[in-house]
Amino acid sequence: MNLRMISTTLAAGQRRHAIGLRAVALVALLGVSGAATVSAGLQDVPAAGAGDRAWVLGEVPDAADNPTTPAKVELGKALFFDPRLSGNGTVSCASCHNPALGWSDGLKTGVGINGTVLGRATPTIVNVAYNTQFMWDGRKKSLEDQALGPMKTPEEMRTDFAAAVHLLGSIDGYVAMFAKAFPGEAIGEETIAKAIAAFERTVVSKDSRFDRWVAGDRKAITAQEYRGYQVFIDPERGNCAKCHSGPNFTDNGYHNIGLKQIEGKADEGRFKIRAVASMKGAFKTPTLRDIALTAPYFHDGSAATLMDVVEHYDRGGDDKSNLSKDVRPLNLTSADKQDLVAFLMALDGRPVAVAIPPLPQSPTVSTAPAAVRTAQSGK
Ligand code: HEC
Ligand code: HEC
Repeated sequence: MNLRMISTTLAAGQRRHAIGLRAVALVALLGVSGAATVSAGLQDVPAAGAGDRAWVLGEVPDAADNPTTPAKVELGKALFFDPRLSGNGTVSCASCHNPALGWSDGLKTGVGINGTVLGRATPTIVNVAYNTQFMWDGRKKSLEDQALGPMKTPEEMRTDFAAAVHLLGSIDGYVAMFAKAFPGEAIGEETIAKAIAAFERTVVSKDSRFDRWVAGDRKAITAQEYRGYQVFIDPERGNCAKCHSGPNFTDNGYHNIGLKQIEGKADEGRFKIRAVASMKGAFKTPTLRDIALTAPYFHDGSAATLMDVVEHYDRGGDDKSNLSKDVRPLNLTSADKQDLVAFLMALDGRPVAVAIPPLPQSPTVSTAPAAVRTAQSGK
């Protein structure tokens, strides 16, 4: 392949990527329905009490060593959506964390560069700013630390960093954005990671109908959703809040909830990071905010719908080896289950329209050499 052919191929790949994202973003705008389906029985919903304040989501925490600024966020957003960072110019963070799909991908497990199928489901990045540990097994301690992971993973983005830094440095728009976001600092792994993390901290799901009910609007949720909330928090019924606790519906802890292990492909989860027996098959409790948008569910994508999730908990899990003591048969009625699902669907935040940012281009199109190097160095 000569230079011109390769750069044309790359450009076509990028175009396809952008068109794909744009198409789904449109679906997101058309498809979101933030409006409450106000049904009969409103008057049955009691006012929220002091105990319900436990669910109030506070201000987004900032990182002491990477305070958020508008310039970092703008740069981080461009990087997040830019497939040119990947080894063959086709995969960006947004390929898997797609705003139109609840910042996930709608797939059972992630699919990386050249169609490589990954071992685990893509989690949403909604409200990651509130997390203290990252990934299904918590192996990352900060968003800054996390951001470089997918780029360095051969199955995900397979970024050639030397080439990527060279490429960014050759695009006038990026040079200006880096200078504004990180005055006096070089374009490099650290500044790339910091910018992406700053952008991710702005991806927040809040002001759901449930939040509005907690804040005092009795009409914000239906009687059915209220009943579902009661099942959710009652230790004798759903017992869900045992683990999905606090404003972001997670205890930031790890539990084995009894998912079936696939013969020969058992995923030990947290145990690989912390070799304590109770951590075998344990995974991080995910947030439930925007949960209606991110099917399928669980780290293995094994539950297609929220009702499947509820049925899983109702039967007390499948694989009982090392099962958490907080997962046991619930004997919920079918009305309880439907109420629970209705409640989960009231946790969608107010829809935010996400515009795909225009990716910085260089007037001189000096990107080919770096891109070509990337294409040749990868396999
Ligand atoms: C090929 C698909 C894919 C791409 C590309 C990708 N991710 Fe992910 N992401 C995943 C999967 C899968 C996981 C969970 C992996 C695990 O836990 O082992 C994940 C986990 C995460 C998490 C942790 C969330 C949490 O709640 O713990 C963050 C944050 C994240 N990705 C951000 C990014 C950023 C930033 C990029 C771009 C630099 C990116 N991802 C690119 C698939 C992808
Ligand atoms: C023992 C702690 C615990 C209890 C109790 C619990 N969960 Fe979970 N939940 C988790 C963990 C851990 C995961 C991730 C498990 C995995 O994928 O391996 C999870 C996953 C989920 C998911 C999928 C999220 C996603 O993004 O894929 C939903 C939905 C959910 N739980 C709802 C509930 C409901 C509803 C209840 C009550 C009936 C409940 N949970 C009870 C810990 C718990």
